[in-house]
Amino acid sequence: PTTPALSSTPPCAELHLHIEGTLEPELIFELAGRNGITLPYASLDELRARYRFTDLQSFLDLYYANMDVLRTEADFADMTRAYLRRAAAAGVRHVEMMMDPQAHLVRGIPLETSVRGVCAALAASEEEFGISTALIAAFLRDRPAEEALDVLEDLLAMEAPIIGIGLDSAEVGNPPEAFIGLYRRAREAGLRTVAHAGEEGPSHYIEQALDLLLVDRIDHGIRCLDDPELVQRLVHEKIPLTICPLSNVRLQAVDSLAAHPLPQMLEHGLNISVNSDDPAYFGGYADDNFRAVQEAFGLDRAQLGLLAANSIEASFAPPGRRAELL
Ligand code: HPA
Ligand code: ZN
Repeated sequence: PTTPALSSTPPCAELHLHIEGTLEPELIFELAGRNGITLPYASLDELRARYRFTDLQSFLDLYYANMDVLRTEADFADMTRAYLRRAAAAGVRHVEMMMDPQAHLVRGIPLETSVRGVCAALAASEEEFGISTALIAAFLRDRPAEEALDVLEDLLAMEAPIIGIGLDSAEVGNPPEAFIGLYRRAREAGLRTVAHAGEEGPSHYIEQALDLLLVDRIDHGIRCLDDPELVQRLVHEKIPLTICPLSNVRLQAVDSLAAHPLPQMLEHGLNISVNSDDPAYFGGYADDNFRAVQEAFGLDRAQLGLLAANSIEASFAPPGRRAELL
């Protein structure tokens, strides 16, 4: 089902998107069929009934399990192309997508397969969908930092076309400090850096990501509101926070959409953008997220315009492309 792009949503960049989180139930069944995999669900409805989450981990369990259907380069390319097609309809003009190479390596899928598959679809994106793209290799913070460093070295050795690295997966108990060496190496290699922080984890993980990992952007960061001094710092330093409203609701990081802190964040003057995170799991793509916050908070055109402009200015797109989109 395609939802029409919100007419009042200006062109925007999607900065917080996990490509594996765009795997829709229909495609899961299609890829399972193509690869001769028997799914533990008898029907689409049985799979869809599993999409009720109580926290981040309850989602991650299904997210990692469903990835098992991704086996060939073509599988990764088809998933990526399906996302780009849907994002174009949502009004997304530039996307910086994360992928989780380790999640595929640990189940025996070579780095070349996942990276080449995703990149094949990205390479055609500007021409096919009018969406400029960049790829961010995200590392799993609930796995050893040494493994992450090995994978980064392999990505660099194969000259994978990544522009940056990220940090995702189970946050609580896995603070940024364990990944100082990984981020130092990434910076040395000329890569940009982002990290999930303050989604479920405490506000001091946001400070660690800034002070120890020296990240360019924070993914989520909603828990910064627990610390007024940190809020002032984020405002002063104009640190971009990639906010994912429907994700926060579905993972119960907030009690309801009405209780989402996005209006307070705007009020404080924080540099926030609206993103979809894992749209196949959380009930919506970029336009759905914009529509949800517009309806919940009665945002006006100027506020929607600011959110979209923030996304473009916080992107790693070349200055010429950013100017074109603003
Ligand atoms: N949070 C942390 N890790 C993730 C997410 C998320 O929302 N999606 C995919 N990996
Ligand atoms: Zn995320």
